[in-house]
Amino acid sequence: MRLDGKIAFVTGAGSGIGRGSARALAGAGAMVVVSDRNGAAAGLVAAEITGSGQRAEAMALDMTDTAAIRAAIHEVITRHGRIDVLHSHAGIQIEGRLDQVSPDQMDASWVMNVRSHFVAAQAVITQMQAQKSGSIIITASNSGVQYDAGMIAYAVTKHAAVAMVKQMAKDFAKDGIRVNALCPGFIDTPFNAGFERQMGGRAGLEAYISTAIPAGRFGTVEEVAAAVLYLASDQSRFVTGLALVADGGNVSDRALKTSLSGTGFLLRLLSAFRFGSRDGGRIAVRLVFSCHAARHRGSRTMVLAVIVRISASAPVRCRVREPVQCRRRSWFGPGALRSVCAA
Ligand SMILES: NC(=O)c1ccc[n+]([C@@H]2O[C@H](COP(=O)([O-])OP(=O)(O)OC[C@H]3O[C@@H](n4cnc5c(N)ncnc54)[C@H](O)[C@@H]3O)[C@@H](O)[C@H]2O)c1
Repeated sequence: MRLDGKIAFVTGAGSGIGRGSARALAGAGAMVVVSDRNGAAAGLVAAEITGSGQRAEAMALDMTDTAAIRAAIHEVITRHGRIDVLHSHAGIQIEGRLDQVSPDQMDASWVMNVRSHFVAAQAVITQMQAQKSGSIIITASNSGVQYDAGMIAYAVTKHAAVAMVKQMAKDFAKDGIRVNALCPGFIDTPFNAGFERQMGGRAGLEAYISTAIPAGRFGTVEEVAAAVLYLASDQSRFVTGLALVADGGNVSDRALKTSLSGTGFLLRLLSAFRFGSRDGGRIAVRLVFSCHAARHRGSRTMVLAVIVRISASAPVRCRVREPVQCRRRSWFGPGALRSVCAA
């Protein structure tokens, strides 16, 4: 995936995923503007890039400052005559539930996680329309496509960022401009420092990650940067409006567990009857029980799924899809499972 001759602009690029993105884009041949609120950190990343023979410029830029964003991007377009890739990455995470987050904190989350991307995208759009090409990548999070306990400001604003991406993608697809959301899960950067403290230190955080994330580990900055490079390059030229989730299976795992409960249970039961009756008159009954405990970070989600099929030709079969880990006694706990099997 080459980006030779392209001009890229990355925000929040002095650390973590933004730094990885800047390095990957430069490694593919782009000239990268490495911007960050911390100008010294941006300078170090730009120096790393130029030190390895690639092209970069450093810029101090605070993404809460609308006039500064406009001026910075205008200056880059004037100097280089074009802009091909905008990776608007800087964001903020404020934890808490409705009763814990102040209106000012909600506003701060909106300013960084939605408004800053809006302003940056607006600053590049006229030039990209004139070029009839461009890739805008906005960092959201996997919290932009699912929900986390006690994360109202973060989850709401990241969902809004994904919604904004889809709207922009629709509005500018005919101009040859692609707009996609980058939705990382747990990536090992300083961004998780607050959560690490909550978990009682690095060991607690790693223990949580090893059980909560199907891949059993953090993602790396390089793994996310590879996704950025794909979205920036022509390899993804027919991809727009996508929320690209790179999270070691976290979102899909939760979706699977959700589908085993509530409405999912009823739908599966109904479809089992429907398909069973079509299948040569066999009666097929599929029962799916699920048991969820509170899904807070640090506690285990407990799911019990039992599938029972009854047909004229086959004996009763019982399969446990996931280990039974119910702490509290319930009618569908381990004892109930045995009685279902024996039925
Ligand atoms: N690391 C993760 O696990 C993870 C997961 C999902 C989403 N994200 C998203 O990635 C982004 C940052 O994550 P990271 O891992 O790269 O973090 P990081 O802490 O390693 O780097 C963040 C960078 O952003 C800069 N920054 C902060 N405020 C800024 C501002 N107002 N203007 C310009 N720059 C600013 C910081 O100086 C820093 O260099 C956020 O949007 C976050 O929501 C991260």
